[in-house]
Amino acid sequence: MSLISQISKHASNSVLVNFKRAIASQLSQLTGEPETKTFECIELTPKKEFGQFAVIVPKLLASSGGGQRKKRKTTNEKSASLEQPKNPVEYTKELAEKFQPDTFIADTTPLGTYLNFKLQRIELIRQVLDRVTRERTSYGTFPKYGEDKTVLIDFSSPNIAKPFHAGHLKSTILGNFLKKIHEAMGYKTICVNYLGDWGKQYGLLSVGFNKFGSREQLLQNPVYHLYDVYVRICKEASEDNSISEEANRCFKKMEDGDESILALWRQFRELSITEYQPLYKRLNISFDVYSGESETHKDIPKVIDLLRTKGLLQEQEDGSLYVDLEKYNLGSPVIKRHDETSLYITRDIAAAIDRKQKYNFDKMLYVVGVSQQIHFQRLFKILEILNSTENDDSNKKQENWANQLQHIHFGLINGMSTRKGTAVFLKDLLDNQQQQEDLEVLSKIGEAAAEKVADIVGISAVVIEDFSRDRQLDYDFSWERMLDSHGNTGVYLQYAHARLKKADVKLNFSADPKILKDPEAFELAFQIAQYPDVVLKSFDESQPRILTHYLFTLAHTISQAVRVLRVKGMNQDLAESRLLLFWAAKLTMGNGLRLLGLTPLEKM
Ligand code: ARG
Repeated sequence: MSLISQISKHASNSVLVNFKRAIASQLSQLTGEPETKTFECIELTPKKEFGQFAVIVPKLLASSGGGQRKKRKTTNEKSASLEQPKNPVEYTKELAEKFQPDTFIADTTPLGTYLNFKLQRIELIRQVLDRVTRERTSYGTFPKYGEDKTVLIDFSSPNIAKPFHAGHLKSTILGNFLKKIHEAMGYKTICVNYLGDWGKQYGLLSVGFNKFGSREQLLQNPVYHLYDVYVRICKEASEDNSISEEANRCFKKMEDGDESILALWRQFRELSITEYQPLYKRLNISFDVYSGESETHKDIPKVIDLLRTKGLLQEQEDGSLYVDLEKYNLGSPVIKRHDETSLYITRDIAAAIDRKQKYNFDKMLYVVGVSQQIHFQRLFKILEILNSTENDDSNKKQENWANQLQHIHFGLINGMSTRKGTAVFLKDLLDNQQQQEDLEVLSKIGEAAAEKVADIVGISAVVIEDFSRDRQLDYDFSWERMLDSHGNTGVYLQYAHARLKKADVKLNFSADPKILKDPEAFELAFQIAQYPDVVLKSFDESQPRILTHYLFTLAHTISQAVRVLRVKGMNQDLAESRLLLFWAAKLTMGNGLRLLGLTPLEKM
């Protein structure tokens, strides 16, 4: 069952659900097919000439075991099921003839085996305006759905002392979208920034800093400087093995708690966080917890013991320990090195167990690039085995919480480079974007507001460019496309929102919908009506693309309506009704932009 029908069972959050129910109830009387199944078969039509909804009749009849449909027992002859279809086209015609117009449905027409439905226009507009007026910023949210449920989202998670690259940017905006949409679904969210702040590379960085580091530069420009040091020491290490060995010894000392090295490391960590924070602030993103790989380190011995008790650990000749996952086609990940130090996966096992204990989440999402897929498959498998109650005596079969974990993966962004080299710093990206926007925006609004607006427009351009695609696909980064004044861009969406300013008419929430007779008014209301279902679909598939494309269509529909439905200079009743419709459109656009993590602009 689709999420839409699941939810429509205990919430009537979508106006369209009412209309679909009206179709389903009458049609199921006519065909004898169950109502829920009929509801599931109702689709949007591809063209507005056909009406708004369609049912493919053979699809509706299929899978009920051909001829085994149960006929409804009814005393009312008229609403009794029609005879078993001989020819699907004929049967569709027959259904169209029998279907009676009602408060919701104006007209039913057959087209081959498609049964097309036209909605009662004014009724739809009335319901939409009523709904949006009542719900405002909660329009398109489903607070009951996730009530009492907690989702933990691990996102952004950059590696300290290393550049914040395109993958981190993607994780940051996608993770923030997941946070917003889970909030809209009623979940309690816990956002964790799990910093990469531990591991052999920090041993290497310490060695590098002692060789090439400068305190002064560290304080001035920590991330750039540390990265510079890191690149230099990596190069040396690749030529000289003794450096790697020294780095290993150094990391071992860190794990053993050697203060002389930890003090410096702590400084790297703090300076890096301080440098990320303004960027997050600029993106309007916040975290509940800044944790990191380093924090798991005290739990590592417990994890090793647990794995051992479950008989999962195997020893290699050099003394390192691994878990054999060959039978799941997941190889044999090493869990503990021969020098006893931990690895990325060891720390993730510890972190997951700790989070479950601390937050008792119902769901945990890892928003990380697809290149780490195997890592997460291994992690989830190990946790599944650890949590399985197979060998336990207790009769209670508890749900294995490893099933609550999901890797929300995404593709690569190619060619996102700056003058600093192939590594991108988010700040550069936004600064660059802002300069381009400045020129255009400055001419339209005063200079004081321009900087803020330009920044928001710039962020919108970057975010929407990314969200306009399937999150799993790789793509090539392009400034041109992002700023294309004729294309579907973030600038376009912001403009669609900002242009709907108040006219000289006062907003009247009881304006009469009956005078909104123009087709453009209906089209706009119908778009607005689709918003809650779009939110559900976007949530269900963890795809901001679905919402983004909807907003593009909404923006186009707004611009068509604005051209035809004038407000200024119209008689008061008409002006008020149109204004209310535009207000509802603006509100929906604003709600959508906020779900994507953007700040809707009032002026630009
Ligand atoms: N720091 C890692 C990286 O930059 C991402 C961490 C993702 N989260 C996790 N729990 N492994 O690749």
